[in-house]
Amino acid sequence: MEALQLTRAVAANAEKTHRLSTDAEQALLAMHVARELTLGLVAEIDEDDLLRVHSPIMSPLVWDLGHIAAYEDLWLGHRHGGLPLLRPELADLYDAFETPRAVRGEIEALGPVDARDYLEQVRARTSEVIAGSGIGDGLVCEMVLRHELQHVETMRQTLAIAGLLCPQDSSRLDAPLPSSAPHGWLRVPEGRFSMGAEEQRFAYDNERPRHSRDLRPFELARRPVSNGSWMRFSEGGGYERREWWSAEGWAWKEEHDITHHRAVAAGHPDAPACHVSWFEADAFARAQSARLPTEAEWERAATWSRESERGDAPEPTLAGVGRVWEWTQSHFEGYPGFVAHPYREYSEVFFGDRYRVLRGASWATHPRVVALTFRNWDLPQRRQIFAGLRLARDV
Ligand code: AVJ
Ligand code: FE
Repeated sequence: MEALQLTRAVAANAEKTHRLSTDAEQALLAMHVARELTLGLVAEIDEDDLLRVHSPIMSPLVWDLGHIAAYEDLWLGHRHGGLPLLRPELADLYDAFETPRAVRGEIEALGPVDARDYLEQVRARTSEVIAGSGIGDGLVCEMVLRHELQHVETMRQTLAIAGLLCPQDSSRLDAPLPSSAPHGWLRVPEGRFSMGAEEQRFAYDNERPRHSRDLRPFELARRPVSNGSWMRFSEGGGYERREWWSAEGWAWKEEHDITHHRAVAAGHPDAPACHVSWFEADAFARAQSARLPTEAEWERAATWSRESERGDAPEPTLAGVGRVWEWTQSHFEGYPGFVAHPYREYSEVFFGDRYRVLRGASWATHPRVVALTFRNWDLPQRRQIFAGLRLARDV
């Protein structure tokens, strides 16, 4: 509530000197709503759990709070508004590259009270900047807003690991697909399509440039793989049959004694399987005599399906898109003609054969950041992400 009062006060004050544009007003409101989400997520979490390292691959929740503030101050206060950084001494600490996740539990970062103060102080300055000089072309504002929303999902991953997800979130994770959702395979004919984000929309650098791709015909499963199917795979020797696994996947599984994630066993059999690593998804697909789709196939099927739905052709539909991130077989690479924007560390430093691309979105993704062209990426062994898979096969 305080934040809303603050936003209103800033807006009222700005009204006296400048007229607050609709764009600016909407930006402030959207940022305010995102902040309520962020703060709501940690409202019931006690200090110890905010400071604790729940997993070596995740930040303490309090780090995310400070990082959200620092990012907003850097891009909106400093770069957009021309102000000096509010807390320059914190810049490195909250820079994701200067301070990687593995060491974020050890550093002297702000505690929960100070991190919330920092968020509020940064927002007060950002609001002044926006009220005073507007949002320009709006891109920096949108990026900062989406950054916070993406960290809301990251924080939910940490909360899930800690067993601290609120009941509403847990039930969204575990909701079965409706029985009316289509089964079977969507057949996509061969052809050329335009891949990547259209010019007019906000998109990340890695979604551009839009370019054409030629695809062979393929089929994509209409439903994501369910917990029930996953348990049949596991009980049918999924984690013992060497021939289903890649060499790297098998080595990882052996070293860490991996079997199905407990969330898969505990989940509703008709809910999409979640917390599945790429290595496991790849093995699962092979066990079904199928494969993971390429990201081009995924995007083609999803956009084609949506266009057909609009044009009321009853045939192509994919069920369950947006429930879990879906692993693809593609490595994370720049599209032909890629240009880093607005900074190399957003995507470019992750290009190469270490990361695999995920498509779609999860139940934990805010609708504002969902797009059929959006590319997420993670390491093949990661299971913290809300990820499952949808099978593909050649025809
Ligand atoms: C797009 C989800 C891979 O979490 O590393 C957050 C989003 N970028 N802060 C990530 C992001 C900078 C990014 N992912
Ligand atoms: Fe970030």
